[in-house]
Amino acid sequence: MPLGPAPSGSLSDVLVGRRSELALLRSVIGSPPALALVEGEAGIGKSRLVAELLAAPDLAGTRRLVGQCEQLQEPLPLSPLLDAFRSAGAGLARSGLPLNPVAGALAPLLPEIAEHLPPPLPPLPDQRAERHRVFRAAVALLDHLGPLVLVLEDVHWADAGTHDFLAFLAAHQPRDVAVILTVRTEAGLLPIREAFARAPSGPARTISLAPLSLPEVEELAGGVLGAELPARSPAPSTRRPAASRSSWRRCCARCWSGCPPVRSPAAPTCWPTWPCPPCCGTSCCSACPRSTTPRRRSWAPRPSSA
Ligand SMILES: Nc1ncnc2c1ncn2[C@@H]1O[C@H](COP(=O)(O)OP(=O)(O)OP(=O)(O)O)[C@@H](O)[C@H]1O
Ligand SMILES: [Mg+2]
Repeated sequence: MPLGPAPSGSLSDVLVGRRSELALLRSVIGSPPALALVEGEAGIGKSRLVAELLAAPDLAGTRRLVGQCEQLQEPLPLSPLLDAFRSAGAGLARSGLPLNPVAGALAPLLPEIAEHLPPPLPPLPDQRAERHRVFRAAVALLDHLGPLVLVLEDVHWADAGTHDFLAFLAAHQPRDVAVILTVRTEAGLLPIREAFARAPSGPARTISLAPLSLPEVEELAGGVLGAELPARSPAPSTRRPAASRSSWRRCCARCWSGCPPVRSPAAPTCWPTWPCPPCCGTSCCSACPRSTTPRRRSWAPRPSSA
């Protein structure tokens, strides 16, 4: 699949690796109705993968609605969904087709696009009936806007109402709607997992992102630094005994503090499988099991002699 430009604010302009995950995600959303869960640890590249998918030139004409969950003490009701719908005003204005009147139930929640929705409905005395009507309204609106890709980011932070809505959506998914959720694995099991597994349109596909391989991390770091990285020694860190490995990590965490500002997206303190940087030519490297005679490179700052 041809790739589009990198999303703005990206660590690297070039997507490193992830070709099979991208192809899988593409094939899932290519046959709607479809549900996809992109999961992995914080910073591993979930949003980047989805952004890369949506930036593909051949998907340029596909409508997409993107909602973001926020990390709040008390998550706001249906916030990512309303977030996604807010951007739908222009599409609704253009469609000119009649919309199911139940979608009027969303008008009080979406004043920004209310002029494109059917008239608001009188409130129902029963809160649960009201909630049901809002869920039906949201499904009707998605149906009306299809074909589309609905992306909800970081659903581990979503409120219980959003999880309930997603379970409802899985059971009543419009024909032309593909749903992609991103979720951190460390957040534990998602409440909607079971509903997604039993969706009438077919079980959700899970795309689990593993850490990049060492050569891929090198490629990413090289791209970020804009420099060719020093060759590493043949023994990969994973073959070292645990004790040596941990002292190597401590060593490298210290070394990097004096090195160019590179951080692994997956590990904010150091590159966990990175060869000992050749720039840290002083005492900390004597503790490093890989260190022989460290040499300084021109791009590295000289460690302070104090
Ligand atoms: N395979 C990759 N190639 C190039 N850059 C990448 C890759 N994976 C991640 N990045 C970059 O690393 C940074 C973090 O990635 P991203 O925001 O996608 O992580 P995430 O898994 O969505 O994190 P979070 O759980 O915090 O939302 C971004 O700048 C992204 O562009
Ligand atoms: Mg993300």
